[in-house]
Amino acid sequence: PGHSGRFLDYNFDVTKGRIFIKCMEGATTNICYNLLDRNVHDRKLGDKVAFFWSGNDPGDELTVTYRELLQRVCQFSNVLKSQGVKKGDRVSIYMPMVVELVVAMLACVRIGAVHSIVFAGFSAESLCERIMDSQCSLVITADGFYRGDKLINLKLLADEALQKCREKGFPVEKCIMLRHLSKAAEDDLSSQCPPAKRSCPDLQVPWNPDVDLCWHALLRGASDVCEPEWVESEDPLFILYTSGSTGKPKGVLHSVSGYMLYTATTFKLVFDHQPDDVYWCTADIGWITGHSYITYGPLANGATSVLFEGLPTFPDVSRMWQIVDKYRVSKFYTAPTAIRLLMKYGSEPVQRYKRNSLKVLGTVGEPINPEAWQWYYTVVGEKRCPIVDTFWQTETGGHMLTPLPAATPMKPGSATFPFFGVVPAILNESGEELEGPSEGYLVFKQPWPGVMRSVYGNHSRFESTYFKKFPGYYVTADGCRRDKDGYYWITGRIDDMLNVSGHLLSTAEIESALVEHAAVVEAAVVGRPHPVKGESLYCFVTLTEGATLSGPLEAELRKQVREKIGAIATPDYIQNAPGLPKTRSGKIMRRVLRKIACDERDLGDISTLADSSVVEQLFRDRCLTTP
Ligand SMILES: *[C@@H]1O[C@H](CO)[C@@H](O)[C@H](O)[C@H]1NC(C)=O
Ligand SMILES: *[C@@H]1O[C@H](CO)[C@@H](O)[C@H](O)[C@H]1NC(C)=O
Ligand SMILES: *[C@@H]1O[C@H](CO)[C@@H](O)[C@H](O)[C@H]1NC(C)=O
Repeated sequence: PGHSGRFLDYNFDVTKGRIFIKCMEGATTNICYNLLDRNVHDRKLGDKVAFFWSGNDPGDELTVTYRELLQRVCQFSNVLKSQGVKKGDRVSIYMPMVVELVVAMLACVRIGAVHSIVFAGFSAESLCERIMDSQCSLVITADGFYRGDKLINLKLLADEALQKCREKGFPVEKCIMLRHLSKAAEDDLSSQCPPAKRSCPDLQVPWNPDVDLCWHALLRGASDVCEPEWVESEDPLFILYTSGSTGKPKGVLHSVSGYMLYTATTFKLVFDHQPDDVYWCTADIGWITGHSYITYGPLANGATSVLFEGLPTFPDVSRMWQIVDKYRVSKFYTAPTAIRLLMKYGSEPVQRYKRNSLKVLGTVGEPINPEAWQWYYTVVGEKRCPIVDTFWQTETGGHMLTPLPAATPMKPGSATFPFFGVVPAILNESGEELEGPSEGYLVFKQPWPGVMRSVYGNHSRFESTYFKKFPGYYVTADGCRRDKDGYYWITGRIDDMLNVSGHLLSTAEIESALVEHAAVVEAAVVGRPHPVKGESLYCFVTLTEGATLSGPLEAELRKQVREKIGAIATPDYIQNAPGLPKTRSGKIMRRVLRKIACDERDLGDISTLADSSVVEQLFRDRCLTTP
């Protein structure tokens, strides 16, 4: 459909009024139409494989073509409509890595609804918070799934979340559950969804007939024809939550046309996509990487992808390479944390498989350390495959700094140069642009189509988080160095975020989970370098009078954080801190705590410290053991 008006219209300067970004305003489209109908009908790719699904257990696999995917999405779109979901409504999706997760997200956007996917590793508390923040009218989940040999009772967690929402005055009326672990026989599809327990004895599937609906039962009789809902370019596409540095997670809001264009273009060029490629991104769809580079970018290009439910180490540490050979994967995209994990086992598990189909290797999530880069390049890619080290964020929608394979001379550990249309700058503390070799704050000077449009429900938080510090620029919160050849090197987060296995966690969120425990008065969390995870969580807790930091209390605190935020945020070290190093104005000096956690005695300037004796005490009581 056509459009009038400008390609890109924006204001990036808070001093000049409201921040906004509009791309192709006035045009109408539907992203699901572009991903599926267009590929099936116009490009004649109906019989092409969209996904090779590989389950947690090797041998558990499925193939889905573009035509089948379109049919299933249309059917589920009709299901959502029959449940009263309308254009603009928010739908929360809490599912494992199954084809139905893609079906659910595309069905939402086909009818103009806005999905909010919550990573299935998050706790019930986190899910409830996200459901309430985005006011979701419906939740889609599954009975359960396996991560390696560990069963996750997902429906049980979803029920706990809905119970919490109810207690907080936000009842969700509908929850659709997919049977994943307990596949019903075709003739056994009654509307009574709780599965027979025979197939998976430890699976617990609570069932609330007032709220719960069965995916399979709803599909019966649903038509596989569904006209897409035409939406405006700037209509909301999805919300995806990221940790905020001030506690509450932020609902990053992306809109339709710009995001579609940006993910399609970056996917095509950064992976040098060719029609006969088999592409595999190992991320979970619950993160932005899975949104942009499993679902939207690849499908927009008519690509064939592997969709993987399992773990790189299950049933053994060769699993990734076994899958690469099985599907003859040519473009492979994973995280430095996975590479470091596999590196520990040496080259033999890699060399058990040929990997001769591989052409391009990508990394995402955090800067890759040069040692891991070398291993990936030499052992996995046998020096044949360029590495694309991609820097971007949930907020940017797609790649920002990245090499183009075989076109950009690489430097291990550098994300190299900006993608087309991206204009970075490095600012010093006073907000002046630095030229030539320099180090400072990484900012972007003008929008690109995929940039987020707002924080859901709080536009002023969007403005203050990304635009206030340096008016006129989008501020990434990452530090960056530019070398004499103009290469960009990301140096790490500037605010108080931690990256654990490539997942950004906010220290404030973890601290607030800790202080909710009755025995904790105050908490401060810092990162301590970890050879595999990147950072481990080192927590200082000040306890109530008379309390002691015993084994059982430590276990309770770990559990508390796990339940509030999720297993990825489990504290590694917990140290009793009778006092915390503070400035005279009462601000905790995290810089000093970081030094204590790492046992670095050179504290630099501590003249602003109110009481230096607490530092001595904390050094004496350091946690010396590795958890
Ligand atoms: C950076 O900041 C300082 C003040 O902190 C300023 O004097 C200096 O000129 C700035 N600009 C550059 C380009 O270094
Ligand atoms: C918006 O976010 C700010 C933090 O940036 C917070 O102080 C404020 O209460 C929020 N407003 C609403 C309506 O949630
Ligand atoms: C994340 O961790 C890596 C090391 O694993 C580190 O080099 C990097 O600075 C960290 N921060 C960010 C934002 O990537």
